Amino acid sequence: MTTRDEARYGSPDSDASAGPGSDAPTRSDSDASAGPGSDAPTRSDSDASAGPGSDAPTSLGSRGFETLCVHGNNALRDAYGAIATPIYQTATFAHHQLPVNDSTDASLARSTGFDYSRGENPTREQLEWRIADLEGADIGVALSSGMAAISALFALLKPGDQVVASGDLYGGTNRLFNQLLARNGVQFYYATSTEGIIQAIERARASAADRLRFVFVETPTNPMMQVFDIAALSDAAHAAGALLAVDNTFLTPCFQRPLSLGADIVVHSGSKYLGGHNDTIAGLLAIRAPGIEVSLDENGYLRRSSLNDSERLPEQLRFMQLSTGAALAPFDSFLLLRGIKTLPLRMERAQQSALRIARFLESHPRVRSVLYTGLPSHPDHALSLRQASGFGATLSFYLADKSSVSPLFERIRIIQFAESLGGTESLLTYPLTQTHADVPPEQRDALGISECLVRLSVGVESCDDLLADLEQALA
Ligand SMILES: Cc1ncc(COP(=O)(O)O)c(C=O)c1O
Repeated sequence: MTTRDEARYGSPDSDASAGPGSDAPTRSDSDASAGPGSDAPTRSDSDASAGPGSDAPTSLGSRGFETLCVHGNNALRDAYGAIATPIYQTATFAHHQLPVNDSTDASLARSTGFDYSRGENPTREQLEWRIADLEGADIGVALSSGMAAISALFALLKPGDQVVASGDLYGGTNRLFNQLLARNGVQFYYATSTEGIIQAIERARASAADRLRFVFVETPTNPMMQVFDIAALSDAAHAAGALLAVDNTFLTPCFQRPLSLGADIVVHSGSKYLGGHNDTIAGLLAIRAPGIEVSLDENGYLRRSSLNDSERLPEQLRFMQLSTGAALAPFDSFLLLRGIKTLPLRMERAQQSALRIARFLESHPRVRSVLYTGLPSHPDHALSLRQASGFGATLSFYLADKSSVSPLFERIRIIQFAESLGGTESLLTYPLTQTHADVPPEQRDALGISECLVRLSVGVESCDDLLADLEQALA
């Protein structure tokens, strides 16, 4: 038995990281730049602590981020040398047969380690290791949607438990918190700035109840693009005995690694940038839990030791995955693994275009203002530069006049009018009636989700085409 890092990176007397795709570990050779004239931070200008792609040693081990996206850090040795992860499209797994005279009660010991795909599946486990590698986590858990991932986390709470969260949240998360969990007795407190969240944490800490369990933020938020100081929130949460969970859907570990800034849990809608092609729904959790023991099985699969310490978060989340039945299917796990291989290429490319488009919109007479952390006009631009190595490729903007909204959606040709974000296709979304339709009107008004607000997810099409599309649609 060995710990995760030894198995991934090799201990002095171990060759555990050998196997297909494990040719000499290399540092990132990325010199990806954000393009001429861009002031987007690039991997090559990120400083030693700034996260992925840095040449200085990081918790990524010795492999560069791009290498991890393609190969991960574990030691899968497929029996036939398959380069792509096989899709184990099976509901159940035969146990090794017992010798006829074997009188021992060895039925469990004869399991291959995979029994039933709701509980464990080799394709899904590869994905779970991959997201753990990318986020610098010890454990990954893959679920059937982003909402299933968030639900699994919050299903750990009991009536009377308290949560402090960012006020601006994806509409589905808002619905889960306020229409389901709050009715079951979980108490939510919201704030829209780092200081506001810290004050709410301190109030919870000072209260007689002392039941603060989670601090939960999206950063940047959907759709208002607010940014929270992850390191400051993690200090405040930990001082109050709570855990910090960050929804990292918008930036992905390509640009932001919350665990390296002190967070405990990362949440993803894998349906967005990680899957990356607008063709699947998935959710992921990545959890910091040092000391988890792993081993390599006879087929070269990295396996967790049996997780039976029910006090620990990874065990509890695996228990939720098994018990609520929302585990990600093998084919969707494969699609996520495939999407992740090109994550850095897509993110860099889409970000270059997003910056150009944000500047174009900012100077357009029909646009009142643009919310994009890559613009110096964004109030959290400096914080974004400090804690992330990129700004992502989703932005929101206010049209100057309500009467421009319908024509814009009617006239776009290449950009599609659809909800979601993070895929190869650019999408224009109307939060008021789509993603945030279920948020109560007074809350939407307070956040600024108005009739004039539009969200744009920039894809990987030709940026000139996207600009031309917007120009004619706004004419
Ligand atoms: C920031 C964020 N988190 C979570 C979710 C929920 O993810 P899913 O649609 O995969 O359930 C979304 C969906 O848009 C999102 O934007």
